[in-house]
Amino acid sequence: MRKVFVAGNWKMNLDSAGSRALANGLCQKLADRDLSGTIDMAVCPPFVYLPIVAEALQSGPIALGAQDVYFEPDGAFTGEISVNMLRDVGCRYVIVGHSERRHVLGETDEQINRKLRAVLAGGLKPILCIGELLGEREDGRTEAVIERHLRKGLADVAPAEMERVTVAYEPVWAIGTGRTASPEQAQEAHRFARGILQEMFGPATAQRIRIQYGGSVKPANAAELIRQPDVDGALVGGASLKVNDFWGILDAAAQAG
Ligand code: 13P
Repeated sequence: MRKVFVAGNWKMNLDSAGSRALANGLCQKLADRDLSGTIDMAVCPPFVYLPIVAEALQSGPIALGAQDVYFEPDGAFTGEISVNMLRDVGCRYVIVGHSERRHVLGETDEQINRKLRAVLAGGLKPILCIGELLGEREDGRTEAVIERHLRKGLADVAPAEMERVTVAYEPVWAIGTGRTASPEQAQEAHRFARGILQEMFGPATAQRIRIQYGGSVKPANAAELIRQPDVDGALVGGASLKVNDFWGILDAAAQAG
C-alpha cells in the first residue's frame, strides 16, 4: 500500500505562542491515535519559529520543514537562510518554488532549481511546488506549465536523488480561494506530471515519487482527492493552521491512502 504524505504550510501566519500551541495540539492528537504507520506528516512554520516548533514536536512522528531556503551554503547573503542552518535546527523537508515565491517574490525556475539541488546536496528533502495560474489554465497551457516547472525545477537531478523529492501540484487559482480543483482535475494534472517524471527519470522512479495536491484542501474534500490514483498526499495552507482542521485532513488521508 502506498504511504501518502501530508504537509502543512503555515506561510506567514501565527506567532510563537500560536506555533507552539498548534504543534502541541497535533502531538496530543497523535498520542491518542498514532497515524505514522499509515501516513508521513510534516509542518512548515516560518523560519523564526522553527526551533520552537522543533522542540514541541520532539522526536515524534511529525517532521519539521521550512518554507524556503537560499542556495548558497554560507557567506554574505543578508537576510537569507542556508540548508545547513535548516538542518541545524532540525528540518527534514524544505518547500521550494511555492507559487507565492514564484509570483509574489519573482523567483525563476533557475533559482528554484538551484535551491532544490542545494537541499538535496545538504541531505534534506525538497518539496517542489508546480502549478499553473488561472489565465494559463484558461488558455489551455496547464500541461505546458507543469512540464516546464518539472523539467527546469528538476534539471540535473539524478534518478537516485529523486527518492528524496516530493512534487506538490498546486494550481494557483485554487490556493487560498476556497476553489479546490475537482478530484478529476487533480488526477488529470498529476497523471500528466507523472508522465513527465517518467520521461525524465524512468518508470520505476516516477512511480515512487509522491505528488501532493495543494489548493484549498479541507477535511471535507481531502479523502476524495487523495483517493485519486496519482494523488499521493496534500500540501495544506489555511486548513493546517487549526488543530482540528489539520487533524481532519490527516485522518482522512490515513483512511484514503
Ligand atoms: P491553501 O490550502 O490555503 O489553499 O494553500 C495551499 C498552499 O499554498 C499550500 O502550500
